[in-house]
Amino acid sequence: MIRLGAMTATTPHPAVIRPRATACRGSNPDALVRLATVKGSTTRKTAWMMNNASTPSSRGASLRRAAVGMPQPPSTEEDIDDDFVPSQLGIKDIISLWITQILQTYGDEESKDGAPVCEGSVDDLVGGPIFLALYPYFLKYGGVFKLAFGPKVFMVLSDPVVVREVLKEKPFAFSKGVLAEILEPIMGQGLIPAPYAVWKNRRRQLVPGFHKAWLDHMVGLFGDCSAQLVKNLDAEIAKNPNGSAIVDMEERFCSVSLDIIGLAVFNYDFGSTTRESPIIKAVYTCLQEAAHRSTFYFPYWNLPLADVLVPRQREFKNNMNLINETLNGLIKKAQAFEGTEDLEELQNRDYSKVKDPSLLRFLVDIRGADVTDSQLRDDLMTMLIAGHETTAAVLTWCLYCLAQDRDLMAKVVAEIDDVMGPQNDGETPTAPNYEQIQKMELVRLCLAEALRLYPEPPILIRRCLEDVPLPKGAGDANVTLIKGMDVFISVWNLHRHPDCWEEPLKFDPTRFKRPFQNPGVKDWAGYNPDLISGLYPNEVTSDFAFIPFGAGARKCIGDQFAMLEATSCLAMTLRRYDFEMTKDASDVGMEMGATIHTAGGLPMKVTRR
Ligand code: HEM
Repeated sequence: MIRLGAMTATTPHPAVIRPRATACRGSNPDALVRLATVKGSTTRKTAWMMNNASTPSSRGASLRRAAVGMPQPPSTEEDIDDDFVPSQLGIKDIISLWITQILQTYGDEESKDGAPVCEGSVDDLVGGPIFLALYPYFLKYGGVFKLAFGPKVFMVLSDPVVVREVLKEKPFAFSKGVLAEILEPIMGQGLIPAPYAVWKNRRRQLVPGFHKAWLDHMVGLFGDCSAQLVKNLDAEIAKNPNGSAIVDMEERFCSVSLDIIGLAVFNYDFGSTTRESPIIKAVYTCLQEAAHRSTFYFPYWNLPLADVLVPRQREFKNNMNLINETLNGLIKKAQAFEGTEDLEELQNRDYSKVKDPSLLRFLVDIRGADVTDSQLRDDLMTMLIAGHETTAAVLTWCLYCLAQDRDLMAKVVAEIDDVMGPQNDGETPTAPNYEQIQKMELVRLCLAEALRLYPEPPILIRRCLEDVPLPKGAGDANVTLIKGMDVFISVWNLHRHPDCWEEPLKFDPTRFKRPFQNPGVKDWAGYNPDLISGLYPNEVTSDFAFIPFGAGARKCIGDQFAMLEATSCLAMTLRRYDFEMTKDASDVGMEMGATIHTAGGLPMKVTRR
């Protein structure tokens, strides 16, 4: 497995915010970074803007009234009327927003959005991961506040009632904004950055691919790939006479999840647990480039000949060519087989008899689907990126938390032994099946709890396509998101909201078994364990205080896949080994990519149980 340098391999999954250690941190070269420049480097210590949020927004109120009776956009892909067209954002809207903001910042203009304005220093945001920097501001200003940099504003949302409004009730009043701009060169028109019209059709095609029979079959694949991980750990231990080895578990989890996603999505064996290859290197380098672009001051890669004259852009182009050639080859291969138009027949396949059970094969087999090769390439690339590092990250942070709580670890291991039977010495690693994964409740809740404390990604990005009045939730301001505004949904803040979680910073998977209510958060139904119906507690169980896979129409399509994969892999490793931290937990720093990485890996002492 290739380990990239200090920046680590980063996957710009749904919401990329990838600050570099030294650069101004922000999701977007067009946003935070450039804004800092607008104010000028000499003003880095200046307050971002005057706090005039106490002025009630009279326009906000009238906007809310105007919204009453307006045709509402659909909230899920099933609701979508074929004639629905989301609002468009024009340059006029952006300029008008900027002028308003300048007048508000430097003049007497009344706030149109009504949000509290956060005062602070840009330095607070650039010294570390931005999601960490936003947490103290959230505690001070509440679940809706505004960061303003000169004319540019970012609304930061961390309240479950508000998040429900944005993700569930009005998903199509927002685009992916800057995220789409950054990801487009890599994912093209893949589901994550896709504009509405493309997204609508592709989502309808892709979701059925994750059907029960396929997921059942995938559980076997997860076991095979995790068995390879186990073999490698055995080999590491065998090298040492003392019966243990120090292993970077983050790196190992990254390798296993890359192998799984390659085989599951396009039947390609990266074999990254056992070897290095140009294609693996190309994938990681492209992901790093996306991270670089999300933090660089100005998009120089769009300049003519940048991909010829700038070495890293030349390398990026060559790597993209290599990935595209490989994916195109796999698409051609999959297309060489007979297809069917019968979705039901496909979904009821006996996958044990299918030579190529990949998602790609399913997609080309639905011959009725009118899809181009380039769209298929974009779908594959998106899934590769979306499904790989996220799963590795949840495994990493879950192990990190468990290793610090020996009692809890013992209970988890007891559950695994109970469900799978204790392991005999020398036994080849066996994988849990679907039913066994369902029985391992504590293991699954530990993964959910790791996703609560370390959400992947920690911030979701949106841009408003129309004015959206917000409900109050835990706050009391009348806030309206204005057309053109960039919005950060801080999942990090939401998942650590002191009004929604008891002891929010504690790793306690059993919290998901206890109900929790707080009438102080207006219109929030609280957390109800009786509503858990699948593999993990979700946005429904928590009324949008817990959104590990997003929510609403743009919710993750790989959630079940990821939970099954992570449970299988964690159960197989904990059944066989004991893990101990080799450095103080507080020394395992965080770096931000699309997912939250450790700052320098997660070295652990691994011993056979
Ligand atoms: C633990 C693992 C994972 C986590 C935490 C995760 C998280 C998320 C989140 C939060 C979103 C919503 C993004 C937004 O609203 O901006 C999302 C979207 C998405 N995820 Fe995942 N994901 C995981 C695994 C996967 C896997 C395994 C796949 C596919 C094989 C996948 C494919 C996607 C796709 C295609 C979308 C875009 C959906 C759309 O816009 O319609 N994810 N994911």
